[in-house]
Amino acid sequence: MKVIPGLEGIAVAETELSLVDGEKGHFVYRGHWVKELAVSRTFEDVVHLLWYGHLPSEEEGKRFRELLNAHRELPGHVKDILERIPSDADMMSVLRTGVSALTMEGDWPPSPEQGAAVLGAVPAIIAARAHRLRGTQLPPVRKDLSHTAHYLYLLTGENPAGAHVRALEAYLILTAEHGMNASTFAGRVVASAQSDLLSALTAAIGALKGPLHGGAPSEVEGMLEEIGTVERAEGWLRGKLEKGERLMGFGHRVYKTRDPRAEALRRVSEELAGENPWFRLALETEKIALGLLKEYKPGRRLYTNVEFYAAAVLRAVGLPKELYTPTFTLSRTAGWCAHIFDQARQNRIIRPQSLYNGPMPEER
Ligand code: SDX
Repeated sequence: MKVIPGLEGIAVAETELSLVDGEKGHFVYRGHWVKELAVSRTFEDVVHLLWYGHLPSEEEGKRFRELLNAHRELPGHVKDILERIPSDADMMSVLRTGVSALTMEGDWPPSPEQGAAVLGAVPAIIAARAHRLRGTQLPPVRKDLSHTAHYLYLLTGENPAGAHVRALEAYLILTAEHGMNASTFAGRVVASAQSDLLSALTAAIGALKGPLHGGAPSEVEGMLEEIGTVERAEGWLRGKLEKGERLMGFGHRVYKTRDPRAEALRRVSEELAGENPWFRLALETEKIALGLLKEYKPGRRLYTNVEFYAAAVLRAVGLPKELYTPTFTLSRTAGWCAHIFDQARQNRIIRPQSLYNGPMPEER
C-alpha cells in the first residue's frame, strides 16, 4: 500500500454523468458535448439531463421548472440569519451558512425534489446577502423568468439584458458538473456515510471556496487589476513565478491540454465584451502567461483553465468579483446533487487508509 498525493489518477467511482478527458480535451454530460449544450439548451434542461438521465420533453421541462421555481422564495429564518451575519464575512462563508440553514423533508436517500429545494434557493441566498451589504432590498420573486434570468433580476431588481442571460446561461451549463473534482468528492464522502443532502452540499461549498479550486476566478480578476496594462504583464507574471507562486486561471489536475470550457467562455466573453480594454488585457496576459509557464515549468503542460475566462464572462455580465465563486456554487450545486444521487444509488462508505509512521509503544 502506498500514499498517492492528492489521489492523483485514482478512480473512486464509475459514472454516466460526465466525461472529462484531460488528454483529448473532451467534455461530455451523459453522451452530449457540453459545448453544444451550452449554446443550445437552458440550464434547467441540463440539470434535468444530469439528474434524470435525459433531456426533458416539453412537458417534463415545464414540470421541472415549476419544481425549481417553487423554492425561489427564501424561508424567513434563512433571511434572518443572513441579516445577522457580520458584514465583513466572506460571501462563500455566508452561502455555506445559508444552505446549511435550509430545512427539508427526509434525510435518505437524497432526491431530485430535495435538490430542487436547494438549487431553487441558492440564487436568493446570494442576492439577499448582496442587497444586505448594499443596503438595498431584495426584489419580489417572479415566476415568469428562467433560473438564470431570475438570478440576474434578483441581483439588480431589473429585467436582465438578453445577451447577459445567454452568456451567464452558457457559463452555468459549462460549470454545472466536472467529474470527481475536490468539492464533488467532498460531497460524496459525506453522502457515503448516509448523511443528509444539506450536510453533503455544505461540505462541497467549503471545498469550492478554496482558491486552488473554485476561488480562482476572483483571483484572476485581482491579477488583471494589479497588472493593469499589457506592458506590465510580463514583469508582473515573471515576478510571481520567480517567487514560486501560482498564476490563477492556469493549470489543472486533469486537463493537460487547453480546458475546453476556457475556449468556450473566451468566445462568450469576446461576443459580450470583445472591444473592452479589460478583455484585450486578458487575452494578451493569457498569451504571455502560457509562454512563461513553459519557461518556468517545462514539461508540466500548464494551460488556461475554466477560471481564467469565467472571470471575463462574469465581469462582462456585470457581477462584482465577490459573487464569482458564489455563482460557480449556483451552477455546481447541479453537479454535486447529481453525484450525491449517484452515490446513494450504489453506496459504500468512502473510507481510505493512512500509513502510520509514528512511534510504537512497548508491547504489554
Ligand atoms: C477548478 O478538478 C477540477 O475539475 C476543478 C475544476 C472544476 O470544474 O471543478 O476544473 C475547477 O478548480 C479549476 C482550477 C482553478 N485553480 C486555479 O486556477 C489555481 C491555480 N492552479 C493550480 O494551483 C493548480 O494547477 C491546480 C490546483 C489547479 C492543480 O494542481 P495539481 O494538479 O495538484 O498540480 P501541482 O500542484 O502538483 O503542480 C504541479 C507543478 C508544480 O510545480 P513543481 O513544484 O513540480 O515545480 O505545476 C506547478 C506547480 O508549482 N503549477 C503551477 C500552476 N499550477 C501548477 N505553477 C504556476 N502556476 C500555476 N497555475
